[in-house]
Amino acid sequence: MSQAQPTVRPEPSGAAFSYPDCPAIAEPSPADRRHLLGLEGMTRAELTEILDSAGHWRERLSRGRLACDELAGVAVVNAFFEDSTRTRVSFELAEHRLGAIPIPFSPAGSSVSKGESLLDTLHTIVAMGVDLVVVRHPSPGTPALLARHLEAGVVNAGDGAHEHPTQGLLDLLTLRDAWHGRFEGRSIAIVGDVAHSRVARSAIFGLHALGASVRLAGPATLVPRGIESLGCEVAESLEQALQGADAVMALRLQRERMEAGLVPSLGEYAREWGLDAARLRLLEPGAVVMHPGPMNRGVEIAPEVADGERSVVLAQVANGVAVRCAVLARCATAVAEARA
Ligand code: NCD
Repeated sequence: MSQAQPTVRPEPSGAAFSYPDCPAIAEPSPADRRHLLGLEGMTRAELTEILDSAGHWRERLSRGRLACDELAGVAVVNAFFEDSTRTRVSFELAEHRLGAIPIPFSPAGSSVSKGESLLDTLHTIVAMGVDLVVVRHPSPGTPALLARHLEAGVVNAGDGAHEHPTQGLLDLLTLRDAWHGRFEGRSIAIVGDVAHSRVARSAIFGLHALGASVRLAGPATLVPRGIESLGCEVAESLEQALQGADAVMALRLQRERMEAGLVPSLGEYAREWGLDAARLRLLEPGAVVMHPGPMNRGVEIAPEVADGERSVVLAQVANGVAVRCAVLARCATAVAEARA
């Protein structure tokens, strides 16, 4: 049997921001539509507007071979300072489908590797006439820093353990379908490595703004102390979190952001916190299983659950393209208006 968890949860490790407030990161305000820096502070009306727009793009995408000129002439640099498959490909695909000019950028082979600062490098790129910067960076707050200084719209594609707003939006779109448009009175269990998860933070902000409740569960070392002040309930076991929930989101163990020793072993983690078929029976009938990917099959999620009938993992990925179309169009419109 697995060992009892310590009762005192430590502060999140490696996070350069404090729970629950990170005022330096919250700027510029979410009302500045040129940027999408996070879901924190976004209103129900703003979220609903983006989700409705994503629904429109999803319908157009579903007809196949979408190639339109919505963003014709809009130059978008995709600056990824961390590994990514689905987020990067999904942004690039959305940019191509909307007729934008996508510009790939990787730190290796750029002047950042010669010692130039991030801001100087991006100032240079924007001076060439780039309109939008999509940025993923290991340091929380990097997108906000760029938004404060660049004459371009900035979209956060994941900043450390802080936020991942387009992932949050695609999760909301997926849940809106599963829950037939109603968030009030619904509950979701988010389980696993909450401490290092920008996906969890964005989901929490978005779900609360739309009226759903969030239960968290994970090893004591991976659920940060104080996270209840974001309005979440912290369950004592995976079973308690799953009981009667309308959805569950499993999180990857983010070993690249973790100090050694936060989990005893992957086997023990899987036994205590892994989603398997037996545990899914605790959920409400009709509840869905989510995972942002990439998945560690057999660790946080059993293969038969990942591929099972309740899994909406591939719907999440598909919704990601529609959400990124909506976000890019929203930001590009605001950039054009600000420059007019
Ligand atoms: C996530 C990320 O990079 O934050 N993946 C994603 O974008 N879909 C989650 C993860 O890496 O575990």
